[in-house]
Amino acid sequence: MKVAFVASEVVPFAKTGGLADVAGSLPKEISNLGHDVKVFMPKYYSVDEYKFDLKYLDTVGEMQIRVGGIPRPVHVQKGFLPDSNTEVYFIDYSFHFHRHQIYTNDHDEDERFILFSKAVIELFQRLGWAPDIVNCNDWQTGLIPYYLKENYSWDRMFDKTASVFTIHNIGYQGRFSKETLDNGEIDHKYFYPGGPVEFHDSVSFLKTGIEFSELINTVSETYAAELLTHEYSAGMHDVLLSRENDFLGILNGVDYSIWNPKTDKYLPHHYDENDLSGKLLNKKFLLQHVGLPFDENKPLIGIISRLAIQKGFDIISAAIDDLMELDAQWVILGSGEPKYEHLFRSMAYMHPNQTAVYIGYNNELAHLIEAGADILLMPSHYEPCGLNQIYSLKYGTVPVVRKTGGLADTVHDWNEFNELGLDTGNGYSFYEYSGAALINSVKRAINDFKNKPVWKKIQTNGMAKDYSWKRSAEKYVDMYKHAIEKRRV
Ligand code: ADP
Ligand code: GLC
Repeated sequence: MKVAFVASEVVPFAKTGGLADVAGSLPKEISNLGHDVKVFMPKYYSVDEYKFDLKYLDTVGEMQIRVGGIPRPVHVQKGFLPDSNTEVYFIDYSFHFHRHQIYTNDHDEDERFILFSKAVIELFQRLGWAPDIVNCNDWQTGLIPYYLKENYSWDRMFDKTASVFTIHNIGYQGRFSKETLDNGEIDHKYFYPGGPVEFHDSVSFLKTGIEFSELINTVSETYAAELLTHEYSAGMHDVLLSRENDFLGILNGVDYSIWNPKTDKYLPHHYDENDLSGKLLNKKFLLQHVGLPFDENKPLIGIISRLAIQKGFDIISAAIDDLMELDAQWVILGSGEPKYEHLFRSMAYMHPNQTAVYIGYNNELAHLIEAGADILLMPSHYEPCGLNQIYSLKYGTVPVVRKTGGLADTVHDWNEFNELGLDTGNGYSFYEYSGAALINSVKRAINDFKNKPVWKKIQTNGMAKDYSWKRSAEKYVDMYKHAIEKRRV
């Protein structure tokens, strides 16, 4: 099977969140199952072409990609996912992609991803490589299924190409004004109330991807069920309900060659479930690094996150005074909405011996916190999958989460399971979205932290579980086969 995996961020080249982790690991696993997989992404300014030894594809040369009626000169570079033969193609058009960040609020954000989507398809043509499957990810790639069936359908090489659209986050819908139709050469006949490219009088790339793909999936089973409800779908439930039979949830896996405390290249001390002594040394190192006093008996609570409303910062904010009263230390890494940056900066200012805050993006520190913290807090309002809590399970860092999406599918509450007579819990969770429920769960965790044998059991329950990609990659392959069949009828 030939699979094109198209994403706007891919580890290790460019990353803002978990999509990049998925796009950097799932394609390798699908290749390992014997398929021909190629990855496609934009060549941002931040992609280090020297470090990754990217090469211009002279055989392809310059492509003229029309956006807003104007042909734009686009070049293509090629590299590989690390330690693999999986090819990565970079769409290089500096006017669009050499910006200060990967995603922008610039007036031509629509044009950036129109160009990307068309260029990927024209690259298939230049390579003479007709994919059986194009796996699109999130709104940035939502036009591709449409283009394959409309603007490029004249090319018979795509007759059998099926599209799969993966939703990593319904909160980002790629919505633009009606002018986008002309910029993207999208047929006006599809733009009417309730039409396949229209969403509340705007053009939505996300909805277009859902409507024109053979199959749609999202990144956990619980989130798939939640997306069919009014509460969680950000307005898209009717769209998804109309495709309910073509919609499924597949839990993300993780790449243990990057996220494993036994081998993690960013850790000063390695450890595993048989010997956790290295974890304590990492805690010591982390606390020293961030300038907090070390106290083995005081739990260290970590947060690593995009600072977005999705992640539950309004309930943290509501509970902040009570949280600061608890006998715990905090280390927080994140960047995003200014009001939350401000919240955490002032928390560090008011409680300098208790709290360390790093505002920004720092991969090395993310690894160190996963290893050095005792507890990871993730009280998300919604969470399609969540990778941090899956990493933290492997690192013996006990997650405290809100029971939603992938958090509900991976974190099993210790007390809840105990009441059922089971000692298989691996963390703490709460359902009600409130500061009070959050505090209650954090308190339960702090309480059990003091009981060393219980805590160790919770840690090792989490560490023993295998969330590697293999099983989920097989589910993707089954989904691809099904999509191909659908395309053929
Ligand atoms: P999301 O994709 O919604 O941001 P995930 O939990 O799926 O949430 O993935 C987040 C990923 O981004 C993890 O790999 C996490 O370590 C990383 N991450 C988030 N914020 C930062 C940050 N400020 N610095 C470094 N890594 C971060
Ligand atoms: C999104 C979601 C996150 C998920 C990630 C990878 O950014 O917010 O929950 O883990 O995509 O699928």
